[in-house]
Amino acid sequence: MSEIPKYAVMGNPVSHSKSPLIHSLFAEQCGIELEYRAIHVNEGSFEAAVRQFRVIGGKGLNITVPFKLEAWQLADRRSKRAELAGAVNTLKFLDSGKIYGENTDGQGMLQDIVVNLGKAVKQAKVLVVGAGGAVRGVLGPLLEAEPAIVHIANRTAAKAHELAAVFSGFGPCTASGLGDIRSAAYDIVINGTAASLQGNVPDLPGSIFADGALAYDMMYGSEPTTFLVWADNAGAAHCSDGLGMLVEQAAESFVVWHGVRPQTEAVIQQLRQ
Ligand code: ATR
Repeated sequence: MSEIPKYAVMGNPVSHSKSPLIHSLFAEQCGIELEYRAIHVNEGSFEAAVRQFRVIGGKGLNITVPFKLEAWQLADRRSKRAELAGAVNTLKFLDSGKIYGENTDGQGMLQDIVVNLGKAVKQAKVLVVGAGGAVRGVLGPLLEAEPAIVHIANRTAAKAHELAAVFSGFGPCTASGLGDIRSAAYDIVINGTAASLQGNVPDLPGSIFADGALAYDMMYGSEPTTFLVWADNAGAAHCSDGLGMLVEQAAESFVVWHGVRPQTEAVIQQLRQ
């Protein structure tokens, strides 16, 4: 009897993760037998936990906060995207014994914005708020989609400038503090800060939204995030949280492991309910 292939998400905290549900729905849809669970890992034990998971028959892992950088370091081979992102959210255990690392966050966000929400990124003026790991993870795929400009604005301006220096070779990319956002009209405004977690909103001018603009929060919750409530009041035509991104990045991980891309629409709808 062959063993059921094992997959998991590792993080801390991780008990709230929707990844086990998402991957079971994908597996059912694609007729693939697998087991997928959430594993809480204590800080300092990440590498040991990954190696242990492999020993018990693990085939691949999703990695969430706070281990994406450690996962990047642990990977023997990384995709170009993961290399640039400086973080890995997907590990695949290769038959050779090596570990392959990918970052599917940016591709997942692009798929959600362009395909699910129907908002073109090509030629769009994009404002990205925040300059932490979450933002770094999506800048590569965002610039690959050929926007007119990506402006990174962060509370600590120096961090935005550092990121723009890394990514400006891949497309038009500028940076500033929150208070000195020059252009008043962006087609897409992406909140990649952790402010929503504390119920805060980055201190932005209300005039940043162009006609028809999309406000997008990489976070999600059962209620609209504080950023989306603010954006709606400030005149954003469309608002979306990051639930679609969560499902799309999972679909991209599914491709890395199983070579097929599951349908995501029904899964997003199911999670919304
Ligand atoms: P993550 O990995 O989730 O991106 P991070 O690397 O700690 O986490 O980055 C958090 C981001 O949220 C940073 O851009 C941070 O701004 P600073 O660089 O100035 O710290 C931003 N952030 C957190 N709370 C914020 C708030 N209340 N207002 C504005 N930005 C905030």
